[in-house]
Amino acid sequence: MGINLKTTFCKIPFTSPLISVSGIVVEISQNIKLAQIKGIGGITTKSISIMPREGNPIPRVASFGIGIINSVGLRNPGIDQGIIDIISLKKQTKKPIIASIVGFQLYELPILAKRVAVAKPDFIELNLSCPNVDDEIGRPIATDPLLSAIAVMEVKKVVKNIPIIAKLTPNTPDLKKVVFEVEEAGADAISAINAVGPGMIIDFKKRKPVIGNRIGGLSGPAIKPIALRCINDIYKTVKIPIIGMGGVSNGQDALEMIMAGATLVGVGVAVYKHGQQVFDKIFKEMKEICNAEGIKSLKNIRGII
Ligand code: SIN
Repeated sequence: MGINLKTTFCKIPFTSPLISVSGIVVEISQNIKLAQIKGIGGITTKSISIMPREGNPIPRVASFGIGIINSVGLRNPGIDQGIIDIISLKKQTKKPIIASIVGFQLYELPILAKRVAVAKPDFIELNLSCPNVDDEIGRPIATDPLLSAIAVMEVKKVVKNIPIIAKLTPNTPDLKKVVFEVEEAGADAISAINAVGPGMIIDFKKRKPVIGNRIGGLSGPAIKPIALRCINDIYKTVKIPIIGMGGVSNGQDALEMIMAGATLVGVGVAVYKHGQQVFDKIFKEMKEICNAEGIKSLKNIRGII
């Protein structure tokens, strides 16, 4: 009998450990299509802010071979439409939904969390780590242990019955301290990593940056080693479960995230590059590798390294 990849995360069952991540998928229609894919266990929305946002100037996403650079600039329809979208997504799927929210000031996070809770998502993810809006936010909240703790604490005061996930950045020497503080503040789970950088790629012929915003966060296979190190640092620092992400595009990548300490595994750039069916491919490869390696349960390899 082959391995069963069903996973429980914060007591909520997932038919697959693979989930979509907030990031470059913006449209709710794409999320509705994603939810129909068998290999996907849960859906994360694009981060929702109080007001609608057009996003940064185009082009917002570009490939550089072993990764992509993005500066979407948190393009989203705002909280009013965001609530409507989550309610309609919930009608289309029984799979758990992670509502991602982003505040431009700390005080916006509890307001957003309370509002989005009305749509009854299964989780609320606090995006404390977008690398593309420094001019508006200053450095991301998740670079500061104390601010990260306050963000979680303020949200936990107003949302009691939905697990709160803190999405963290690799772009800090204080990751272990941040993660320790957010667990102390009551976070139910961690999501890591957000994009690395920002970085820049140049269109040589045009003599200018490729990305409309000049700079953007790096993701995809190029950042997988950084993701694995961060996930393992987090796993060794706290007890709360981890959604690991950063450069997963095949079954072995996903299993490596679990070996580093992740319970769920986020897939982002691989969807951008290979289409939504990549979830089925990764799911199948995970099973094949586990069966070939005699891995009977994902629990047996979680944090094994
Ligand atoms: C963006 O919208 O610029 C990317 C979102 C993120 O990295 O949090």
